[in-house]
Amino acid sequence: MPSAPKTSLLTSLIATLVLSPVQYATAQPTTDDAPRYRDGNALVLPADYRSWPFIGAGLGMRYSDERGTPEASADPPFSHAFVNPSAYRHFMETGQWPDGSVFVLEFRASESQASINTSGRFATRLIALEAEVKDSRFADGWAYFRFGQGDDISSVAEPLKAEDAAPCVECHSTHAAVERTFVQFYPTLLDVAREKGTLKPGF
Ligand code: HEC
Repeated sequence: MPSAPKTSLLTSLIATLVLSPVQYATAQPTTDDAPRYRDGNALVLPADYRSWPFIGAGLGMRYSDERGTPEASADPPFSHAFVNPSAYRHFMETGQWPDGSVFVLEFRASESQASINTSGRFATRLIALEAEVKDSRFADGWAYFRFGQGDDISSVAEPLKAEDAAPCVECHSTHAAVERTFVQFYPTLLDVAREKGTLKPGF
């Protein structure tokens, strides 16, 4: 049938014209994952952080410096860490975090013995959201944020004031393996930092 090739040619031409802007857009390196601020330095919670690279999880982690999560032993929360894609790519190449890195730490309650589960624990509702940003707009080069707890999670957060950020800064500066980040608990990043030689002395 002579008309069939013509039709499919036309169809594919239309498909190319229609689809190419989308393909073009997704092929571009994304810079739109940079930290976004409102009214000065208030960080806008990245709405899509859940689609960012997932770098590590903890379950009921407590620290020698102690960080109050009272129900930790009865109902150990999961912590899930995410980083913006452009910072992740930079880290994979260099073992270092670029200016404009955004880290989101999500805490979720855990449960056991529901549905077909008989042992072990799985994550459930969101209980808190925190963030950390490496950005030269802050005097310290880094800033720390709390987006709230439970049902009270806000979409924007002011940087924690010096006294509230002090424990974050202290623990992250003293005990983290790469810059201010706990790469020692993120297995795939740890391999990269080892290979690039960016772990702090002692790791
Ligand atoms: C006593 C130590 C300690 C304190 C205090 C602390 N953190 Fe962390 N933080 C950790 C550890 C350990 C991890 C990695 C393990 C985990 O919890 O998943 C982490 C991970 C993070 C991450 C993921 C990126 C990274 O740096 O590894 C963010 C974001 C974060 N913390 C924010 C905060 C904020 C905001 C505060 C202050 C309100 C804070 N932290 C206080 C120990 C601490």
